[in-house]
Amino acid sequence: MNTKKIKATEVREYVLSNGNKLTNEVMAKNLNISATRVANAVKNIKKNRKIAKNFFATDRSLISSKAQATMKANNEAKKQKYVVGEYNNASGMGKAEARAKMVFDIKKSPTKNFNILSLPADNCLIEKKILKEVSSKYNFIGCEYKENVYFKLLNTIAKEKIRMSAHLGSVSDIIYKSKENEFAHIVLDYCGTFQTFQNEIAYAIQNKLVEVNGTISITISERDSGEYNLMNRINEIAPSKDNDLKINHNIKTYLSIICGMNFKVETSFRYNDTGANMSLFVLKRLS
Ligand SMILES: C[S@@+](CC[C@H](N)C(=O)[O-])C[C@H]1O[C@@H](n2cnc3c(N)ncnc32)[C@H](O)[C@@H]1O
Repeated sequence: MNTKKIKATEVREYVLSNGNKLTNEVMAKNLNISATRVANAVKNIKKNRKIAKNFFATDRSLISSKAQATMKANNEAKKQKYVVGEYNNASGMGKAEARAKMVFDIKKSPTKNFNILSLPADNCLIEKKILKEVSSKYNFIGCEYKENVYFKLLNTIAKEKIRMSAHLGSVSDIIYKSKENEFAHIVLDYCGTFQTFQNEIAYAIQNKLVEVNGTISITISERDSGEYNLMNRINEIAPSKDNDLKINHNIKTYLSIICGMNFKVETSFRYNDTGANMSLFVLKRLS
């Protein structure tokens, strides 16, 4: 075997250009070196994660199962960043428009009490807009179930002197223990799908948690699980004519049924948020 004549850098170069299509044994044979030298070159390349990411992308058998699992988890996290990660699109244009619509509907709906239940994330952007554009009298219960975001929220509340009691946990904890007329408005600025929150939304409407004239704003992703689910069943009751609008149409149908005579769908608005199609509905209590 001609193991001494080829430099380590040459082995590395060869492995880099061929490792995604040839096995270690074939490369060793082609280079006329030991399979151990090839394996060592592969090991060194793997250490450099950036190179490894591109290089091993096409031949997963060369990657250890632990590294594969990490790559898979990273890719999933990247894909789902908007859904499960920290909310990171506070400055999106679609979001700003949706926020303006929610605040506009709150402004034209004067109520007796000044309590608002909301999902402020870390920056309290809607809350600050309400305080500035509607009234400085509002008090908030702000819910956040992600601990890291919750602690940032506490910072914002203290720094900006917002009268908000922050709840670390799901907004449903508060919804299910609230009573009729407890709030002036509820701002459910969710980022997930409707099915996830349908029960607590229905509870808030049916138990009239906001007072007459008050609003319940709901933002929801238009992602569809694709299975036979609530959205399909609703679509059977009132079929959507346009497939692109199907989820928005189905949620609106569901909300209208739950609202009965007590609420109306005041605003329905579709927007795009970090590449995700979103629907905003503002419900207004009539009686
Ligand atoms: C879309 S963001 C809120 C954006 C904010 N209102 C604004 O105007 O920029 C939703 C935030 O609420 C949190 N969240 C989502 N669903 C929740 C739930 N059911 N209970 C508690 N927190 C929730 C998310 O982690 C995220 O920080």
